[in-house]
Amino acid sequence: MSYNEIKAAYTAAGQDHVFTFYDQLSSEEQSTFLAQLKSIDPHRITNIAKTVLAPEISNESIISVGPEITPLPDSATASLFTASADQIVDWKKKGTALIAENAVAVVLLAGGQGTRLGSTAPKGCFDIGLPSHKSLFALQAERILSLQKVVAHSTGSGKVTIPWYIMTSGPTRAPTQAFFQQHSYFGLEEENIIFFEQGVLPCIDNAGKIMLETKSKVAVAPDGNGGIYRALTEAGVLKDLKKRGIRHLHAYCVDNCLVRMADPVFLGFAASRNVSVATKSVPKRNPTENVGLIVSKDNHPAVIEYSEISDEMAHRTVASVEGTSALAFRTANIVNHYYSLAYLETIPTWRENYLPYHVAKKKIPCIDLSSGETLTPSTPNGIKLEQFIFDCFPQLNMSEFANLEVSRDDEFSPLKNKAGTVGEDDADSSRADLMKQGKRWLLASGAHVPESILGVEVPPLLSYAGENLEWTKGLTFDTEKEISK
Ligand code: UD1
Repeated sequence: MSYNEIKAAYTAAGQDHVFTFYDQLSSEEQSTFLAQLKSIDPHRITNIAKTVLAPEISNESIISVGPEITPLPDSATASLFTASADQIVDWKKKGTALIAENAVAVVLLAGGQGTRLGSTAPKGCFDIGLPSHKSLFALQAERILSLQKVVAHSTGSGKVTIPWYIMTSGPTRAPTQAFFQQHSYFGLEEENIIFFEQGVLPCIDNAGKIMLETKSKVAVAPDGNGGIYRALTEAGVLKDLKKRGIRHLHAYCVDNCLVRMADPVFLGFAASRNVSVATKSVPKRNPTENVGLIVSKDNHPAVIEYSEISDEMAHRTVASVEGTSALAFRTANIVNHYYSLAYLETIPTWRENYLPYHVAKKKIPCIDLSSGETLTPSTPNGIKLEQFIFDCFPQLNMSEFANLEVSRDDEFSPLKNKAGTVGEDDADSSRADLMKQGKRWLLASGAHVPESILGVEVPPLLSYAGENLEWTKGLTFDTEKEISK
């Protein structure tokens, strides 16, 4: 595409202001800029802007509870709190067998920028202050190693591999890969860690115009974790999964130090129900917790994001079995998704048009078109467009979907905030939750831990989910330090 063709496309889309400073650029800057402009479809951006900025849409962006939104039906849910021990053992056996067949992979969503955390490094590199100072990535890598060993041992199968697909974005790719290299892939085989990159979208101003970060660069941002579907196809991940014989995937968030990757119980639950997609949830902590809600919308599974829940919906209560009142909508999304490969193979048929775009109003450093000065705004001045990973759920019938309620104490402690700011979901709570779990596991195995000790660090390499700690029986752990065998 020549300069004239590119300019014509932007002009036709009403976005030719991006050329304001073009004549002032060096020829090198011009060619990099043109390459970036060529990679963007200005018509698509103008159309998305029209949709997201339409007044009738913005007025309805707070979703009020209509008759069509209800809690999930019982047929689509199960809970670890109420399932029988035999049932859980059965799910675990099924999931373990799938892992032993090397039919399971995990996908990490690691394209987010962690701005709330006040850190510029990828969230996975974060040290939550454990005695070992292990990063979130290190904990996750050890959990994969541990599970591979547990499964190989318990099934007597040969080599067990759980490939780890890591989705990064423009800002997180290089530092993430460098971190893994620097730590020798945490003991995993390099060929079984596959990095791939999600896309970006231009930032737009409140009038729907593409913003410039510099005179020769469009301001862009990762396209949200829903960008995974486009990335899975375009980066060749689906082909790779197929080649490796993978049939079941577990996708999860980078920021949860308790995440049970490739959890056999969850995989067995989803596989035995033969669903396309499954989720894990925890009971919502309180009405204002920043978590999406997994619901039924017009009898299809859906997640309503916390930024889009009305106050009424968040606070609505119902009488509980015990006679007290409970939140009517309490199925909190913890971004642990199961996908069958068969379902992911349908992405090309729906990915272009199905997922909506959500508006995130942000402070976006940009060039002022009239003065050419760089603006560093102190209040939101523009919009990052994002797709959400769960927005494909409503295309499923309820019978193709299932949700498993799990224990928050055991499986969910997200790192969202800078310690000392909000007072929850930060490095302090992450560290405490992981170590309290370690203490519970040791006590259950017959070890002694004095009451004065808040928690003990049990490395995932020694135990994936509390198993294999019989050797600690009768031993006393009177420091919080990481234990070793
Ligand atoms: C997310 C969920 C919310 C859930 C909560 C639980 C979405 C859209 N929202 O909210 O329903 O209750 O977690 O903790 O899933 N990411 C990318 N690329 C991006 C943006 C994000 O890979 O462009 C990744 C992040 O690295 C992270 C995950 O997606 O692993 C979730 O992103 P985050 O911004 O932390 O989501 P929340 O707003 O906390």
